[in-house]
Amino acid sequence: MSGSVTTAIVGLQWGDEGKGKLIDLLADRHDAVVRYNGGANAGHSVVVEGVRYALHLIPSGILHADTLAVIGNGVVVDPAVLLREVDGLAERGVDVSALRLSNRAHVVLPWHRAEDELRETILRGGSTGEGGQIGTTKRGIGPAYADKAHRSTAIRAGDLLDEGRLRQRLEAVLPLKSRCLEALGSPPVEVDALVDTALAWGARLRPMICDTTYLLHGLLADGKSLLFEGANATLLDVDHGTFPFVTSSNCTTLGIPAGTGIPGRCVERVLGVCKAYCTRVGSGPFPTELHDQTAERIRERGNEYGTTTGRPRRCGWLDLVALKYACMINGVTGLSIMLLDVLAGFDELQLCTTYEVDGERTDRFTPDAAVLDGVTPVYESVPGFAEEVRAARSLGDLPSEARAYLDRIEAFVGVPIEVVSVGPDRAETIQISA
Ligand code: GDP
Ligand code: IMO
Ligand code: MG
Repeated sequence: MSGSVTTAIVGLQWGDEGKGKLIDLLADRHDAVVRYNGGANAGHSVVVEGVRYALHLIPSGILHADTLAVIGNGVVVDPAVLLREVDGLAERGVDVSALRLSNRAHVVLPWHRAEDELRETILRGGSTGEGGQIGTTKRGIGPAYADKAHRSTAIRAGDLLDEGRLRQRLEAVLPLKSRCLEALGSPPVEVDALVDTALAWGARLRPMICDTTYLLHGLLADGKSLLFEGANATLLDVDHGTFPFVTSSNCTTLGIPAGTGIPGRCVERVLGVCKAYCTRVGSGPFPTELHDQTAERIRERGNEYGTTTGRPRRCGWLDLVALKYACMINGVTGLSIMLLDVLAGFDELQLCTTYEVDGERTDRFTPDAAVLDGVTPVYESVPGFAEEVRAARSLGDLPSEARAYLDRIEAFVGVPIEVVSVGPDRAETIQISA
């Protein structure tokens, strides 16, 4: 669309930064919104004139009629979830005809969910329940990506369109999967029943399934612009996040080329999304986590309960060490600071500017859970702001303390702030640069 460059939107923390809102805001300036990683572990909320949509697999651009919504090859797709989402949107009057699904996206099957659930249960172990579980969303994401890496036991969306090929693949896979399910204590799967289910998925998905790599390259060749929708977030990236407490894909912009077939050099603008504070769902280190009334207040004001699982999110102060690292990894060109309204009413705000490890200070983030667990955050105190800010539509409408808070973030990270969000609705936004 005129004037827009190919852009990536990526979460800079542990997820739920407000990516859905931002994608929805920018979608109508682009010709296609493209998911490149993750699966139904994502939950992206969009609020339009008071009406809330929660999207898990369908790109958040679907709410814009003139924008294609593309699920790339790097996404793992549970067809039952996808079709439920399609039906749910159609019932609410949303036109879903612009949805496209890569024929090479891997399919999440019932045994993936079973394995995800059972692994978590077994790993939890012990009477304290403090085992090695990751606290996954139990959407089968890890096992589906594991099968992709195994190759011989994977099914892709294109396989759903050809009965002969599908039956052959499932018959080859089932003996092994049945043994795994049995060992895990789950009920067996009947091949005929699964073939019927998978063919029914294929019949409904057929109009959407295509080679999305050629589709996207064709759009770029015609001078169109793409908007990449990151799912999950930087600190959950399997290579660059807080391993092993991560998800199973490359959630950073580094996942775009592999997950769509579009070279990284085509992405001209990277908008990094972060909250004005930090949250995390599931297990794993979180240096600035709070366990006091401040955390409670943030959770209640920010409604910090998971979009996908409803779990209460862990809350804490903004970690600038982690944020700077995330900007570096993603090549972020502009920041979007979300949920600033949640911080109204605190006398003081804290920003973590350094870590202390074994008595030494460091400004380096370490993407290793065991090491990160041992760091002590060092804070800088800045004055809080008393007034509510949801009505602000320009920086000038914000209290001076809120502006100073944003200025400190920008100066520390060295990346300009382009958007400030002061409420969940599309309209509750300060756009500093278009
Ligand atoms: P995503 O996974 O990054 O798309 O984020 P989620 O949708 O899971 O979680 C973000 C939550 O914050 C959603 O409930 C949004 O509606 C809400 N939200 C987004 N921006 C703002 C904001 O500026 N202020 C407030 N109060 N809520 C916001
Ligand atoms: P969005 O796109 C928040 C977390 C899970 C768990 C870990 C691994 O909404 O920001 P998985 O099911 O992926 O194997 O779980 O990753 N996680 C998320 N947390 N937002 C997300 O997505 C997440 N996707 C995965 O809670 O700790
Ligand atoms: Mg979310």
